[in-house]
Amino acid sequence: MTSSDEAKSDAAPLHMIDIIRKKRDGVALNEREIGFVAAGAASGSIPQEQLAAWLMAAWIRGLSLDETRALTLAMRDSGDKFSPVRLGKTAVDKHSSGGVGDKTSFLVAPLAAACGVVVPMISGRALGHTGGTLDKLESIPGYRTALSLEEFEAVLRQCGASIVSQTPALVPADRVLYALRDRTGTVENPSLICASILSKKLAAGLDALVLDVKTGSGAFLRDVQQAEFLAALMVATAEMAGTRTVALLTDMGQPLGCAAGNWIELVESIELLRGKRPEKSPESNFDLRELSLILAGWMIHLGGQADTPETGYERAETALTNGSALRIFLEMVEAQGGDVSVFNNPEKFHKPGATEVVQAWESGFITEMDTTALGWAVQRLGAGREKAGEPVDPHAGILFHARRGAQVERGQPLATLYATTPAQLAEPRAILRQAITLSKDPPGAAVPLVSRIFTRDSAEKYLKNAIR
Ligand code: URA
Repeated sequence: MTSSDEAKSDAAPLHMIDIIRKKRDGVALNEREIGFVAAGAASGSIPQEQLAAWLMAAWIRGLSLDETRALTLAMRDSGDKFSPVRLGKTAVDKHSSGGVGDKTSFLVAPLAAACGVVVPMISGRALGHTGGTLDKLESIPGYRTALSLEEFEAVLRQCGASIVSQTPALVPADRVLYALRDRTGTVENPSLICASILSKKLAAGLDALVLDVKTGSGAFLRDVQQAEFLAALMVATAEMAGTRTVALLTDMGQPLGCAAGNWIELVESIELLRGKRPEKSPESNFDLRELSLILAGWMIHLGGQADTPETGYERAETALTNGSALRIFLEMVEAQGGDVSVFNNPEKFHKPGATEVVQAWESGFITEMDTTALGWAVQRLGAGREKAGEPVDPHAGILFHARRGAQVERGQPLATLYATTPAQLAEPRAILRQAITLSKDPPGAAVPLVSRIFTRDSAEKYLKNAIR
C-alpha cells in the first residue's frame, strides 16, 4: 500500500457491518477499526446486536496480539481516567482473576501502602461463583464504595490506599461490552478478558500492577495452559502500555483461608492484620497470610520500595507485625464512612439468620475440594446474588474448619454454614457433601501456592512460543 492509499483509507468512513464481516472471515482488524468498535460501544452509536455479533466473531476467530493491545488501549481511553501523579508516590495495584475466599485485597492494599506506595484499587462485585471485594466491604455499616474521583484522591492522600467501585464514566466501553459478553456467551476469551481487566487498571493510571491469576478447581480458567496464556498476554499488554507488571499463577484448588462469604472474610483479614500467626496446617489460614505477603512483596518491589520481591515480603511482614497495615486499613474504612467499632467485637456484629455445622460423614483425608461448587454454595447461602442488582446478605457464608490434606474423624466439624434463612441451608449442605472428597489415602504431593511467575521477558518469550 502506498502512503497516499493509506491516507485515503484513513479518511474513509468506517461501517460496523464491514468490521463484523472482516472479523467473521478471520481477517485481522487495524487500530482504527478496533478504536471505532470501542468508541461506538461507549457512546452507544453502535447497536447492541452489532456489538454482540462482533464479540462472537472475535471470540471464535480470536484476536491477535496487536488487536488485543489496540482494544485494551481504545477501551482504556473510552472515558474518564484517574491520575495518581499528584499524589507524589508510585501507584501500584493488585488484581486477582477471581476466587473463593480470596480476601487478599484487604491485606495487600494496607501492607503496600504502609511500605510507601499508593494503592488506588478499583474493585468488582461477586461474579458467578466468585466473591466480590465490594460486596464484602459493604458489610461494614456505612462503608461507601461509590466515591467520586475527587473523593478517591482525598482518601488516597490521607491513607495511601482506597478500595472503590468503578464510576459510570470510567471505561464505559467495558461496562457495555462486559454486560453484553455476560449475556451472549463471550466471556471466556483471553483477549477479551485481557482488554476488559487491563482497560480498567490502566485507566487508574497505575505505575505498576501485580496480577494474581488463579488456577485449579475454583478458577475461571481451570486449565493451566489457558491460565498461563492469559497471564502472559496481560503482562505483555500492560508492559507495552507502560505499566510494570508481573503475574503470579496461584492455587485456587481450595478456598483461600478459612472464611468464604462477606463479613466473615473481613473478620479473618482483620485477625491477620492484628498479628495472628497461623500454624502451617490444613486447618489454618496460613495460605492466606503467605499469599498476601508474597503479593504485597511484589507490589512493594515494583513500586520501587524494595530491591527484590523477597525484601518486599520482609517489609510487608514487618508492616503486618508492627500494626501499621492495620492502622491504614481502619483509617481507610473510616475515611470511606465505615463504622470501625464493629471490629471491636466482630462476633457480636455477626448475626446470620440460620447456622448449621456440617460434620464429616466418614473418617479419612480431605483429598479434593471442588472449589467452584463450594463458591456456588456460598453464593446460595445468600452471600451472592441470583440477578444483577440484588442485595447480598453480609452475614452469609461458610467457615471451613478443615481443608485439603486434613485428616478428619467421622462426626468432626468440617464447616459451619451461615445463611439468611433456614430454608437456604439444604442446597449448600448437599453441594458441600458432593464437593469435598474424603479418602482413605492421604493426598499426593502438596500443590504449590505459587506455581509460576511471568515478568515482561518471560511473558514475551511464552507468547512467542505459544503462537508460533
Ligand atoms: N473480570 C473482568 O473485569 N473482566 C473479565 O472479562 C473477566 C474478569
